[in-house]
Amino acid sequence: MPSVFIKTYGCQMNERDSEAVAAQLVAKGYTLAPTEAVADVVLLNTCSVRDFAEKKAIGKMQNIAADVRKNRPNVVLGFMCCMAQSRGQELIDKLPDVDLVLGTQKFHHAADYLDEILAGHRDKIVDVAAEPGSEATIREHLLYGKVARNGDGHKPPLQITAYVSIMQGCNQRCTFCIVPDTRGEERSRSIADIVAECRQLVSQGVKEITLLGQIVTSYGKRGVGRAELPLGRDAQQRVPTTEKSPFVQLLEAVHEIEGLERIRFTSPHPKGYGDDLIEAYARLPKLVESAHLPVQSGSDRVLKLMHRGYTRERFLGLIKKLRRARPDIGITTDIIVGFPGETEDDFEQTLSLAREVGFDNAYLFKYSPRRDTPAAGMPDQVPLKIREERNHRLLETINEIGKRKYDAFVGRRTQILVEGPSRKNPARMTGRTRCNRIVVFEGSERHRGQLLDVKITRAGSFTLYGDPAIVNL
Ligand code: 5AD
Repeated sequence: MPSVFIKTYGCQMNERDSEAVAAQLVAKGYTLAPTEAVADVVLLNTCSVRDFAEKKAIGKMQNIAADVRKNRPNVVLGFMCCMAQSRGQELIDKLPDVDLVLGTQKFHHAADYLDEILAGHRDKIVDVAAEPGSEATIREHLLYGKVARNGDGHKPPLQITAYVSIMQGCNQRCTFCIVPDTRGEERSRSIADIVAECRQLVSQGVKEITLLGQIVTSYGKRGVGRAELPLGRDAQQRVPTTEKSPFVQLLEAVHEIEGLERIRFTSPHPKGYGDDLIEAYARLPKLVESAHLPVQSGSDRVLKLMHRGYTRERFLGLIKKLRRARPDIGITTDIIVGFPGETEDDFEQTLSLAREVGFDNAYLFKYSPRRDTPAAGMPDQVPLKIREERNHRLLETINEIGKRKYDAFVGRRTQILVEGPSRKNPARMTGRTRCNRIVVFEGSERHRGQLLDVKITRAGSFTLYGDPAIVNL
């Protein structure tokens, strides 16, 4: 059987999609190749959020294609996910060595399409059409990584944490964002379907689940698909209206799974943080004290131009409420610098908001004009030099705040869930605190999957170090 290598660019949703495709292919008998240089099929899972991400994937494919053309002409090359969706056939016109372009609603067809191409029945396949019910098809996992299971049900999986896709798409239409085009309209899976997948994962040893979607706080707002049938949008059923949003109802249902220790989710929209969700933080102990809340800007004028639907004051009010519910909550964010029309004064409001909130960490993005988005045509585009300079200044501020927050952890005891060997130093183990900080400590494989109390001895750059003495108690 052929081997496949999937390289993933972009967000956790993309990572999850790659995992699901890899798992489907493995179930069909494919092996997972360790590098693209030895694979029979190379798929690049692409991101379109900024031009830089697109250029990186195209550059990578150009390099692979040049090598394949010269040395291994039978290798199948494909693009999948967001850039595949937004560019379609254009990618093959630009890179004629590419055989497959697989859109964001088509991952479950990957194995069939590859079979057809490998068997020589079809030359090129581009499929970026909408497919009703596709939100419920991202369900297979690869908990055992590249290691076969050997039929040994008791072997602990390599993955203690898992991502579960609960919905696809976004209807928010922020003026900078290409995601509504690449991921389509909001479509939610049923609670029963999601819970069944989570239960299955927990029965295999998973302890922490992250519920994933482009805008999870909108989960179920436009109805949910039925559990039993892969039906279209017209067959979606309304969630009964109660005080609680469908997302909180989902959290409650997942919370009931015995053996599950921790629940996370990403990405929410600040606008979707109703009192019911804040109250859920106070009530559901498995829901960890951690929130990724993309603020994008600290200036009301820019927030309005971005079409974000909240003000600086409302955002700060939300942070206050969350901290009241969970004083130790870790809060991270996304910020765009240099949005069209952003003045020095607007930017300084972002700097001051970052300080006022005291984010644990922030992902910074230099504004990048995206095709067919309103912001791309707005006046007063900010020159690259200024975007870079603001990015640099904000990064310094975020690092300074982060350092203070991480330093404050030294000397404290905290609970971590051990995930596996540290990537930087495989002789050490790593885990995460409930507020999502990485802790490195000198443990061993037997700690994998355990909830441990460790004493924090040292803080590095966005990493904590734990005391092995406590671990060995
Ligand atoms: N330019 C820069 N950053 C962007 N993001 C989304 N669209 C753009 C864009 N056009 C950022 C936002 C979002 C994150 C995933 O990507 O901050 O939250």
